[in-house]
Amino acid sequence: MEKEFVMIKPDGIQRGLVGEVIRRIEKVGLKIIAMKMIQVTKKQAEQHYAIHEGKPFYEGLLEYITNGPVVAMIVEGKESVKLTRKVVGATNPIDAEPGSIRGDYALEIGRNIIHAGDTPENAVIEYKIYFTEEEILNYEKIDAKWLYE
Ligand code: RTP
Ligand code: MG
Repeated sequence: MEKEFVMIKPDGIQRGLVGEVIRRIEKVGLKIIAMKMIQVTKKQAEQHYAIHEGKPFYEGLLEYITNGPVVAMIVEGKESVKLTRKVVGATNPIDAEPGSIRGDYALEIGRNIIHAGDTPENAVIEYKIYFTEEEILNYEKIDAKWLYE
């Protein structure tokens, strides 16, 4: 099973969308195997967004993600990265389909509510910034036998 890293960004918290985001993730069949509310430090933000260093939006992005509490989680499932990014929608909410989180709840690229890792490899790199191995839970979920063939 593939692991995906997800973060409800500070605007998602402030706008009261934590429950809504988690509902959508659960509903699609993904299993939450780690979750916590944290204040992202400058150092964590720099690690997380290292690939965007030097881009015009980089400083604003660090400001944004460290602005208030976030909810970080690891979700697991078949092709969870592809599936989660579909649930999340396009980076720019204007291009995000209705029915996706960004398509339904956001209108600017710099306030797009949620982060999700873009490849399985990056998801692992990212969740290791925020979670220790002990915080990742290994358990059976009773719906698995009806979700998977
Ligand atoms: P994320 O990493 O947050 O899941 O989003 P993503 O893969 O869809 O987008 P990515 O290209 O990785 O960009 C990371 C975040 O940076 C902000 N951004 N702003 N103003 C801009 O042109 C711009 N471009 C990117 C967004 O908050 C985006 O989610
Ligand atoms: Mg990204």
